[in-house]
Amino acid sequence: MDLQHIRQDFPLLRDNKIVYFDSACQSLRSQSVIDKIVEYYTDYPACGGRSMHKLAARVTEEVDAARATIAKFLNAKKKEEIIFTRNTTEGINLIANSLGFKSGDIVVTSDKEHNSNLIPWQVLAEKLGIKHLIVKSLPDNTFDLAAFETLLKKNKVKLVSIVQTSNLDGVTNPIEQIINVAHQHQALVSIDAAQSAPHEKIDVQKLDADFVVFSGHKMLGPSGTGILYGKQKLLDNLQPFLVGGDTVASSTYTEHEFLPVPEKFEAGLQDYAGIIGLAEAVRYLQKVGLEKIAQQEEELNEYLTTELLKLPKVKILGPEDAKQRGGIVSFYVEKVDVHQIALMLSEQGIMVRSGQHCVHSWFNAHQLKGSVRVSFYFYNTKEEVDRFVRELKKIMNVLL
Ligand code: ALA
Repeated sequence: MDLQHIRQDFPLLRDNKIVYFDSACQSLRSQSVIDKIVEYYTDYPACGGRSMHKLAARVTEEVDAARATIAKFLNAKKKEEIIFTRNTTEGINLIANSLGFKSGDIVVTSDKEHNSNLIPWQVLAEKLGIKHLIVKSLPDNTFDLAAFETLLKKNKVKLVSIVQTSNLDGVTNPIEQIINVAHQHQALVSIDAAQSAPHEKIDVQKLDADFVVFSGHKMLGPSGTGILYGKQKLLDNLQPFLVGGDTVASSTYTEHEFLPVPEKFEAGLQDYAGIIGLAEAVRYLQKVGLEKIAQQEEELNEYLTTELLKLPKVKILGPEDAKQRGGIVSFYVEKVDVHQIALMLSEQGIMVRSGQHCVHSWFNAHQLKGSVRVSFYFYNTKEEVDRFVRELKKIMNVLL
């Protein structure tokens, strides 16, 4: 699939008016994903797993096939290891509330976690008295594996809950080594793959990952869709977090019997269109190829980084080397409000995110107000980068 054909698949890109550089927040959706959602609402808008009629049977069949598609995408052993959630945040909350934490249990994260992988542990520290330990990054903002290893040697850690690729600066943590070290010290590992699953192959068996969470809406899927992968033997022992309809085999006025995984975790009527649309998104990504996706983003990052480094007042977050920052270029311009830059870019049809990107903790610790974040996906082009650089220079001329 060449880039011009790919761009035709995305309605917003067809006339080249909008430059969309905010895919780390939400990606665009291909026409095929939009069509699949419409197909559900048009042809079989019923509930799955409950009613016996043929529309309901079709929903059950499609949801089941979607689960199998996601399982294959992650190379999970079984489709039952795939739980549908609303987003990464819900997946992490499920783990935080289901793993049976008690006072004194230790959870380790990095110092670059999104609020979704920070607040749940702070709340458990307040409510239950768990201990939350943080591994500080190296000066170039990459992961300090040696400090992590020392921390695990010194403390009996229950869970390492860690981001794979940072939404802040695009740096990917050495997740294989992190899992190896954690397992050597009998700690479980939960990977926040929100910014990695859309861009690179995650093989849960090869990684020996215990839990992996990510969102559908950063990888062409519908908004409010997400996945929690867990090894079945771990999921079997987890207490469900949300309970109610469709999680139990039977109940009396005083007792209930939970269904096995995945049903015991999928309470209430599900977002069927979302789930089915997400599977279609995965099929599209597989058709393009994750390697090709990463390569395109790297090339664009390299190109933009070279241009930004020519502008003396621009500071890039994380390593200067674009190869270490995947598809993200997060920067600020000395003495200029990042939101003002984003608003002025928006006026010219260029969409970026500005602010602290839900990683307030890192920005506060570094006494920075925020950054302008360009996040690429495979549908972006060098011509769009040229347009961005042209407009940024004009803005800097006005504001400086
Ligand atoms: N975490 C998402 C982002 O970085 C929402 O934009």
